[in-house]
Amino acid sequence: MPTVSARKRDENGSPTTENDITVEAAIGNNLLEALDDGGLNLPRGCLSGACCACKVLIVEGGGALSTPQLKESESLEKFRANFEKKHGKDSLKGREIRLSCQTSIAKDSEIIVCGI
Ligand code: FES
Repeated sequence: MPTVSARKRDENGSPTTENDITVEAAIGNNLLEALDDGGLNLPRGCLSGACCACKVLIVEGGGALSTPQLKESESLEKFRANFEKKHGKDSLKGREIRLSCQTSIAKDSEIIVCGI
């Protein structure tokens, strides 16, 4: 069964293991709902991919998530640029920003996310 862990980030944008939570989730589960089940109630708004309130940094396991749809990609464009501007050009290397309300778990894997 896939597991989803949520960690905080330090001031440099790197994940810490302090106060992390881990929850098991079924394939097909929505990422935001899986994190809710683990007790991490992320901010949210529209639940339709427009407001970006539910954005998370995927640290590991991004390949186990659903493919971003056009609306999600368009909504996140400015946040990716801002994140790289703030944390460095390579800060998203091997990582990605996703809208948790628009993302589902597609494969059995460990997925690690950080709120941003
Ligand atoms: S809650 Fe608005 S994009 Fe996810």
